[in-house]
Amino acid sequence: MKRICVLPGDGIGLEVVGCAVRVLEAVAPGIELLHADIGQSAFAEHRSYLPEDTLELMRTCDSTLFGAVTSSSDPGYTSPVLTFRKSLDLYANLRPVKSLVRAVPKPAIDIIIVRENSEGLYHQEEAVDVEGVTTHRRVTRRGCERIVDFAIGHARERKRHDICCVHKANVLRRSDGLFLDVFRERMANAPDLAAKDQLVDSAAMFLVTDPRRFDVMVTLNLYGDILSDVAAGVAGGLGFAPSGNIGPEHSVFEPAHGSAPDIAGKGIANPTATILAAAMMLDHIGMSREAREVEAAVSGTYSSGHLTVDLGGRHGSGSFTDHVLQRMGA
Ligand code: NAI
Ligand code: MG
Repeated sequence: MKRICVLPGDGIGLEVVGCAVRVLEAVAPGIELLHADIGQSAFAEHRSYLPEDTLELMRTCDSTLFGAVTSSSDPGYTSPVLTFRKSLDLYANLRPVKSLVRAVPKPAIDIIIVRENSEGLYHQEEAVDVEGVTTHRRVTRRGCERIVDFAIGHARERKRHDICCVHKANVLRRSDGLFLDVFRERMANAPDLAAKDQLVDSAAMFLVTDPRRFDVMVTLNLYGDILSDVAAGVAGGLGFAPSGNIGPEHSVFEPAHGSAPDIAGKGIANPTATILAAAMMLDHIGMSREAREVEAAVSGTYSSGHLTVDLGGRHGSGSFTDHVLQRMGA
């Protein structure tokens, strides 16, 4: 029996994970769901934003479904998200973004962003001196190789045609230059895929004006974080962007968005990203049939005109999920 660690976290994390859990229970009643604490709620209970018991459960389960946490300005705060990404060696962040709703007055988008998830500016080494602060941005050859290889493998698996390396090698000549060099080296051995590259600033513009020029994108950590929210905006908002943190042994699936304190507790958060993250997780643990069933139910719910509040529709988290469950015959 597959065992899944469930971490609702804070704010709308609780609401959207609750919806995804209902979908998982319906589509895969055989999997065991084990809840644990993370974020502010964990701190209140255990004086830790990521208790050791939670991390241990994540390590021993087949995968984890995570909602979101609310950051703290407390000087002693360390992000539980960055901590589990590092502790579990989740070096790849996979962010597919696809338009599900034709009503959105924006060009259709269907891209996969593969974001390096362990290095770059998220290395988090900051040195303070009298004049200011220096942040170290770490880019290693091994880090570049494994994320580019991951992107190539994923592009082939999903029958995609090209990979675009997004970088700023014109300014960051050594670090982004290394990323681009490794991309070119690895793509030379992948003649079945077209290799392109684009500077990050113009890539951001093209994502908005002409997203169809991208298929799979591979990029460094901070660029991937920012560009995936831009892409989500094109698809209708942050409620549409699922995300998978993947490593050699462990994985964590989550919506790309945060805890959205501005709408928390109102029942209007769009659960789509989290339900689709649960589908990505099902795929990852070998339950592809169930994953396709969930994806079809979500897109069928939208195409039959059931729109969520963020799109100007009338469905809150619960009633949208009811429709998804109905389509799955649950
Ligand atoms: P956010 O992603 O929480 O929200 C940005 C905007 O998008 C808000 O207006 C929010 O209402 C809207 N939004 C987000 N998800 C939505 C959904 N499912 N349905 C409808 N609307 C949605 O980002 P923000 O406001 O920058 O950060 C809020 C908190 O979340 C901060 O404490 C931040 O540190 C944390 N955060 C946590 C993440 C994580 O746990 N992985 C990721 C990003 C932010
Ligand atoms: Mg982000």
